[in-house]
This record gives sequence, structure tokens and C-alpha cells, in this order.
Amino acid sequence: MDKLTIEGGSKLSGRVRVSGAKNAALPLMAASILADGPVTLRNLPRLGDLRTMGLLLGHMGGRVDPFWEGEGDGHAAILDMGALSLPEAPHEMVKTMRASALVLGPLLARHGRAQVSLPGGCAIGVRPIDMHLKALREMGAGFDLSGGDIVAKAPKGGLKGASLRFDTVTVTGTENIMMAAVLAKGRTVIANAAREPEVTDTGRALVAMGAAIEGLGTDVITVEGRDSLSGCEHSVMADRIEAGTLMAAAVTSGGDVTLEGAPLGALDAVREKFAEAGALISEGRDGSLRVSAPGGRLKPTDVTTLPHPGFPTDMQAQFMAMMTLADGASIVTETIFENRFMHVSELRRLGADISLEGRSAVVKGVPGLSGAPLTASDLRASASLLVAALAAKGKSELFRVYHLDRGYDRLDEKLNRLGASIVRGKG
Ligand code: EPZ
Repeated sequence: MDKLTIEGGSKLSGRVRVSGAKNAALPLMAASILADGPVTLRNLPRLGDLRTMGLLLGHMGGRVDPFWEGEGDGHAAILDMGALSLPEAPHEMVKTMRASALVLGPLLARHGRAQVSLPGGCAIGVRPIDMHLKALREMGAGFDLSGGDIVAKAPKGGLKGASLRFDTVTVTGTENIMMAAVLAKGRTVIANAAREPEVTDTGRALVAMGAAIEGLGTDVITVEGRDSLSGCEHSVMADRIEAGTLMAAAVTSGGDVTLEGAPLGALDAVREKFAEAGALISEGRDGSLRVSAPGGRLKPTDVTTLPHPGFPTDMQAQFMAMMTLADGASIVTETIFENRFMHVSELRRLGADISLEGRSAVVKGVPGLSGAPLTASDLRASASLLVAALAAKGKSELFRVYHLDRGYDRLDEKLNRLGASIVRGKG
């Protein structure tokens, strides 16, 4: 198991390119199941969850190449699911990646059946998929639960379009239903749909495959079912959460960093909160985004996570790390997941002053942090600890780095190119 040893105190500086978005690439890979021909995806990040999704599609009998062969710098894959013969996502694969549930809608739409291990919870919450199943049921799907697997069947004539409404916003729920609807009979309306940019990116690829989708980016998405979809070529949007994470590392370290290829239109809420905290942000003529720390300490800034276009929950931990050094108290409120403060106890080990009150954390800024051994618990918590360790005096060790590698494309290497001192070793 890898660990990262971080020597804190360097101010990050320089230019870094933002990778493709994990949370767009995952549904896009699942969407390839729907196509009659090969789907080429470009700008794919090289990270654990996509390798898992590639292995899952291969397990089903699809072909995914050459992305996961060799250690090249490949960022493209050709996904051909024409030979898919086993519409199932077994437990040993789903347990490492909940997003495997994203194959449910496409398998039902294209093959009329699916057997998917019911995703377990994870560190940040129970994370059920009841809303996915309820919506698919309204489209005619039937489900049995056997041995922890969901055994799903579409009606004889295929899924039927339906008028649906999600009780609360669900990102992969919206993606799953959108993918089920593109081959259903008739029209599907999804009300209270997720507006996340990654949902829109997935929808755009489906349209390129021949799907008829209206309302992408709004809370009502309408899909007219088609008989079949062709393959397509699609470049995955840039990762707004990796961009935000790099911004947090730059500002917390007191540095000055320029991001290349950041998804400028998808970062409004993050940029507003960074500016409120005193960070200096400017757009370059080449579409780059320059982010630097203010002269003095950051200003304490309250933040509440919300569905897009609100402040993203996937940036909550990283923003909290930044606020541990602000000149005053900030209130960080998490409204999306019930247990997404696992990073708090680890940040305290660096000297942060944080108290929890229900769904809020009160972060009292301290003049400085000092290095300590740290244990990652989930993907964004590990990013948060890395951000804080970079700014802490002295040495920190971050254990269970596989959490980080699931969701970031060699983040430690990117940070070292900006002047960080991070050594990867066995821990
Ligand atoms: C997606 O997860 C992202 N993952 C998450 O990113 C992200 O944090 C989350 O959306 C919120 O933005 C991918 O896109 C692969 P939800 P998802 O369904 O779709 C509850 C990361 O760090 N809910 O929008 O699973 C759920 O428990 C990951 O990259 C139900 O109760 O999130 C949660 O409290 C972490 N029943 C809330 O809704 C359901 O059927 C929002 O979940 C579905 C969800």
C-alpha cells in the first residue's frame, strides 16, 4: 500500500494542466453499452476508478483498449460493447466502486436485463440507489434482490418512457435514467434532475450517438426514445473538482499557480468562495485560470454544499483545509452526505481547530499547522489532508493513498511539478 511523505512549506508556483473529469468519464464509459458501434473517448484521466470501470466492461464481454495497457501517457480509449454477453456487475467489482451502478440503466435499455451487486455504502454515507430503482420501475423494469445482487428485467417490449420526478437531486440517478430513457419506447421527462456539468457532458455524448435529449443543465430533462444509437467520438470535459483541489493547494500554500484547461464555466460557485476568502483569481486570454494567495492571511468564509450550481460537496473537504489557516472562524455546512467530515479528526492532528455541530463544522483559523502522520478515509478527505500537509511546517505522512489514486490522475506528480516536496513510498 502506498504512502506519501510530504515536506510542507513550499509555496506552489507554475502552470499545470487539468485532467479529464472522473465523474464525467464514468457515465460516459457506461454509455458505451448503449451504442451499436465503438465509442471513442478522449481526454480520459488515468485513475483507479476508470480502470475499474474498464475492467467491469471487459468482464461483461466488451472491448476497452488501449487505455489500460502499458504505462504510456494514453488518454484515449475505444470502447466497443458489441460483443457484450454478460450483463452483470459482480460484487468484487462494485464493492470497490459504487459508480458501477451506472451500468444498470444502459444494460436494461440495450439488453433488457442486468444483474448488478447492490452498491454498499462508503465512508461518506449509506448512499442508497433507491431513487434509481424507483424511476426504473416506473419505466417498467422489475427487480428481484438475490444474494445482494439486483436482478433487473425490462418488460418484453423494452423500457417505456415515463414522467418522473426525483425526490431529491441525484447525479448518477439522473445519468442512469437518462441512459435508460434514450432507448425506451416514447418520451421520458425527468423532473428535479441534476444539473451537474458532468450530467450535461454525458448527455452531449448521448446526443452525438443519436439520442434526442432536451433540457441538459436544467432541472427538467426530456428524452425521446430512439430504436438504436450509433458509436461516437467525445472528448471528456475537464475535471472541475481537480481544478478546485489544485486551487486550494495553490492558495493554502501561499503560492501562485496557473491552471490550463480548467472548465471555466463549471467553477462559478468555487471561484466566488475562493474570492470571498481573499484569493486572487484571473482568466488568461488562452482560457487559463491564474490563482494566487492574498498577501496576508485568508479571510474566514462560510460555505454550504448544494447541488450544482451551488458549492460542490466534492470541494468541501479541500475548502475546509484552506480555512484552517484563515484569520477567524468559518462555518462549513455539508447538506449532501451525512458523514462527510472524516477529514476533520485528521486535520486536527495537524493542529487545526475544528468543532462539529450536526451537519456543520466550525473551523477556527490558526496561525500555522505542523506536520503529522495522517490516514486517508475517502477520496476527497485524502485531497484535503494533502492540501493541509503542503502548508504545514515539517514532515507529514499520508497513508492509504489508494483513496487519492482512485479519483485523481497522479496529483502528487502534478503538485511536485509546482514545487511541492512529495515522495511516494510503501507504507
Ligand atoms: C455523485 O455521486 C458523484 N459521483 C459524487 O462524487 C458526488 O459527491 C455526488 O454525485 C454529489 O455531487 C459520481 O458522479 C461518480 P447523489 P452520487 O446520487 O450520484 C442520496 C467523488 O468524490 N441518494 O447525487 O452517488 C445520497 O445518499 C464522488 O468524486 C439517495 O438517498 O450522489 C446522497 O446523500 C463522491 N438515494 C444524495 O442523495 C438515491 O437513490 C446525493 O447523492 C441516490 C442518492
